[in-house]
Amino acid sequence: MRRIPGILFAGVLFAQQEPSAKQLLDPSWINEGRRQYRLACGGCHGINGEGGRGPNLADGAMVRRAKNDRLFYSVRNGVAGTDMPGFPWEGEKVWQMVAFVRSLSAPAQFATLPGNAEAGAALFHGKGGCTGCHMIRGAGGFTGPDLTDAGATRTAKQLRESITNPNDRIAEGFESVSVIQADGSPLRGVAKNKNNYSIQLLEDRGKLHLLERASLKSVRFETTSAMPKPDLTAKEIEDIVAYLAKQSVRVEAKR
Ligand code: HEC
Ligand code: HEC
Repeated sequence: MRRIPGILFAGVLFAQQEPSAKQLLDPSWINEGRRQYRLACGGCHGINGEGGRGPNLADGAMVRRAKNDRLFYSVRNGVAGTDMPGFPWEGEKVWQMVAFVRSLSAPAQFATLPGNAEAGAALFHGKGGCTGCHMIRGAGGFTGPDLTDAGATRTAKQLRESITNPNDRIAEGFESVSVIQADGSPLRGVAKNKNNYSIQLLEDRGKLHLLERASLKSVRFETTSAMPKPDLTAKEIEDIVAYLAKQSVRVEAKR
């Protein structure tokens, strides 16, 4: 007895014929997906995936966690009961779309980037002054987050925005704080740990103070980053992003 109509079954099988991880990272597929995305999806999901009538596809954990075949299915069939329409395209075109959607939230290490990583390394460790506050593989300062795994844990877009607009999003555990101590002397740094009773304040030069809140005259958490907006050209920033994209502790399993 046939339980599943052949045509439905073929559709399911087809959807599961997933291209290799390498194919899904192919820049020509991603570019073709981007072109289709602008026409078919950008109106609802935002031209850079930032969201609108449909959800954000660039930063959300939803896409990052979804398996490739799930994304394929959602694009092809839509999401029943919501505004998300189906796109009954041929398989390859849907997979190119999946490749593009995936690229929006892919770690920087998998992105095709315009910058020159060698030039970026020279800037990062030299005139950019980044090592004063950031450590990579054990070398550098610790006022800012360790960037040893930056390429595996951040998208290229996140890296770029962190550098060009440090105040837009402050990395967790790196808020700036200014306090006036009991004797009237001020201290400024990054609040490493805080609760209702105490604060660990890390000064620029690396000195850590454990402060009891009750003993302080005032405490002010700043909405600005302890990181100064760097004086770099657009090209220099792209070079540094390319260098940071290469920083990963291990080469991730390719999926
Ligand atoms: C008319 C608006 C609209 C258009 C056009 C549209 N989407 Fe959506 N999309 C939505 C909405 C709304 C949701 C949220 C559905 C829900 O609530 O689960 C969604 C959800 C999604 C999801 C998540 C689905 C899941 O599995 O949870 C993906 C991926 C997605 N859209 C990709 C695309 C792509 C790629 C295109 C173009 C080929 C596209 N969308 C076109 C509105 C739209
Ligand atoms: C005076 C110290 C200081 C200097 C110099 C500095 N940074 Fe930062 N950086 C920080 C602090 C503090 C943060 C965390 C607060 C925030 O997110 O803005 C940060 C955050 C970052 C982040 C985001 C990290 C994350 O976890 O998402 C990146 C990327 C970054 N810096 C890159 C750079 C680069 C590249 C340079 C050199 C051009 C640089 N920084 C120079 C202090 C510094």
